[in-house]
Amino acid sequence: MTEQRVALVTGGNRGLGFAICEALAKAEYAVALTARHQEKATEAVARLAAIPPPVHGFALDVSDTTSVREGVRAVYEKFGRIDVLVNNAAIYPDRDVPNLGLAVDPDMVLDTLNANTVGPYRVMQAVLPIMREQDYGRIVNVSSQMARLSAMSAGSPAYRMSKTALNALTTLTVAELGKTSNVHVNSVDPGWVRTDMGTDAADREISEGIDTIVWLATQGTDGPTGGFFRDRKPTNW
Ligand SMILES: NC(=O)c1ccc[n+]([C@@H]2O[C@H](COP(=O)([O-])OP(=O)(O)OC[C@H]3O[C@@H](n4cnc5c(N)ncnc54)[C@H](OP(=O)(O)O)[C@@H]3O)[C@@H](O)[C@H]2O)c1
Repeated sequence: MTEQRVALVTGGNRGLGFAICEALAKAEYAVALTARHQEKATEAVARLAAIPPPVHGFALDVSDTTSVREGVRAVYEKFGRIDVLVNNAAIYPDRDVPNLGLAVDPDMVLDTLNANTVGPYRVMQAVLPIMREQDYGRIVNVSSQMARLSAMSAGSPAYRMSKTALNALTTLTVAELGKTSNVHVNSVDPGWVRTDMGTDAADREISEGIDTIVWLATQGTDGPTGGFFRDRKPTNW
């Protein structure tokens, strides 16, 4: 079994996910950088070759149950433990659909829920037995300010609903595990960040976007669970 703590990050080949892998490797975690396809994971790992702790690439498509189970199994077989899970992978296909009154195609809604909500559900379902057995786990679900029921507005119904449901999944999982469990589960709003998804118009650097995610992924036993965080502070949703 690997002595270092092991972090599994979904969608690790670009954007926030890649930067989270880099930050966790620098914090001396062994990192399982996962991507939809093995080639993407391998190419991204090569870009992190200068960092001393091992970063390994694995195929894991969050929209496919078999791929998730095989990906998590491969990570566990490699390292013998999984301490951190960052559910980062997501799609935002209705970003540019005009909001004319639920104009988004239902199939697009289903695809988005499949990736952004059922995806994290699948990975958590595969990882939780390992974390419970270890009596240690830190799960960070990368959500969005667009998840907030208390500030719901028009447009992007697929993406908005997927992230609201992701926040619900965080709350529900903590209800199942119990507040005193050493498997902590939290959601994060990273803000509007300059990535392919966020576009160049966004007001945050990637380093700002990942700060709270990495902070929660590496928190101690006294850290929070069941919350929704922005800039290291709990926020209502
Ligand atoms: N950027 C922002 O302003 C912003 C704001 C709020 C929340 N967020 C959230 O932050 C997270 C990261 O966003 P980002 O800005 O880094 O997005 P991004 O640049 O578009 O990157 C998305 C990542 O998710 C991966 N992905 C998509 N579907 C996948 C699947 N089925 N299986 C595995 N990987 C998949 C992509 O892989 P491919 O390369 O294969 O497509 C890519 O690596 C997301 O959860 C997003 O909703 C972002």
